[in-house]
Amino acid sequence: MLNYGMVGGGPGAFIGDIHRKAIRIDALAKLTAGCFSRNVDKSRKFGKELGIEENCLYSNFEEMAKTEATKKDGISFVVCVTPNVSHFIVCKTFLEQGINVVCDKPLTFTSHQARILADIVKQKNLLFAVTYTYTGYPAIKQMREMVKKGDIGKIRFVNAEYPQDWLAMPLSEDNKLAPWRMDPKVSGITNCLGDIGTHIENLAAFVTGLKIKKISAHLDSLVEGRILDDNAVVNIEYESGAKGLYWSSQIAFGNDNAVRIRIFGEKGGLEWVQENPDHFIFTPCDRPKEIWSRGRDSFENPAQKYSRIPAGHQEGLFEAFANIYKSYIKALTKKNNGEKLSVEDFDFPTVEMGFDGVNYIEKCFESNKNNSAWIKINE
Ligand SMILES: NC(=O)c1ccc[n+]([C@@H]2O[C@H](COP(=O)([O-])OP(=O)(O)OC[C@H]3O[C@@H](n4cnc5c(N)ncnc54)[C@H](O)[C@@H]3O)[C@@H](O)[C@H]2O)c1
Repeated sequence: MLNYGMVGGGPGAFIGDIHRKAIRIDALAKLTAGCFSRNVDKSRKFGKELGIEENCLYSNFEEMAKTEATKKDGISFVVCVTPNVSHFIVCKTFLEQGINVVCDKPLTFTSHQARILADIVKQKNLLFAVTYTYTGYPAIKQMREMVKKGDIGKIRFVNAEYPQDWLAMPLSEDNKLAPWRMDPKVSGITNCLGDIGTHIENLAAFVTGLKIKKISAHLDSLVEGRILDDNAVVNIEYESGAKGLYWSSQIAFGNDNAVRIRIFGEKGGLEWVQENPDHFIFTPCDRPKEIWSRGRDSFENPAQKYSRIPAGHQEGLFEAFANIYKSYIKALTKKNNGEKLSVEDFDFPTVEMGFDGVNYIEKCFESNKNNSAWIKINE
């Protein structure tokens, strides 16, 4: 078992708790250090409740990085689950101390910051994962295998969407998760696009392997008084010539967390909806729709190896996170043992994918500002 630490994810926080529980599923790492909140008393009390030794509960993340780096049994990696504004400085601080990092998305405020992190990772030969949750589902990994094998032929069009309705009305006072997401000083230049639109950018890239060439984006704040977007529509052109349409929204009444991806090729199509995550639809050009389920032997090894329980017993968000951690921690253990890592070992979203996500946000923001002009992604 490796030791790990956490920055953020304090009492009442959303995603930190999911990370901790997901890591526990495979028991490959143990939480031994933390700085869970900027409020020192709150953080210490919470850390004690989690069973962490008092001398491993830190007043701030700088002190944590410095101290853990000098300890013989210090943490092997840190998990950064603070709001977006502090991702860059938290990650940079730990990387500079030679500590591996897992950070939630969006990786940073700017692509320049993301590049700095990627450069340190390379220079210091560290491992970095960005928790783009949806790549952790076995059904998604199986779809990736089928695209690679050519089961749907050359891709013509990708339609990815992420509608929610939790911000369809002006904020109520008891909404704790929303305020920082609406504040550019904490969230960055976008709200909806950075919070959920970046998930579908990554999901589509992961399943299809397509590289975006240019985008034309329309960002709207549809609830009166909002500074940042709550609805985003992005037209895509890929390097291969295929086209795409990504839509993310927080005002789409009737949608809880309805991530959906549909991929249309020359020989067939694939469709997956996150609210039914164990299944996906494959429609070959010459046969009716087939519903594929996780846990059956028809899944190939790169997907099947992440299946935990027999078909029909639902797996979900916790397992998807656990799958990202499983491959990340296995790769880290291998590296710590002096073994060389293969391409297959990097079966988790990397810092480069984190960079792509932030670059995508920036380019969409720029396009929107210029009447949705087409913008090249790599300029
Ligand atoms: N992968 C996903 O599916 C997913 C889902 C939700 C959120 N997220 C991302 O996770 C991050 C956190 O989101 P959340 O909804 O959990 O936020 P949150 O507001 O619920 O929790 C943030 C926590 O970080 C703590 N914190 C803030 N600054 C800190 C600092 N300097 N040092 C220590 N602790 C600090 C806060 O006290 C709080 O406990 C965001 O970047 C968000 O985009 C990812």
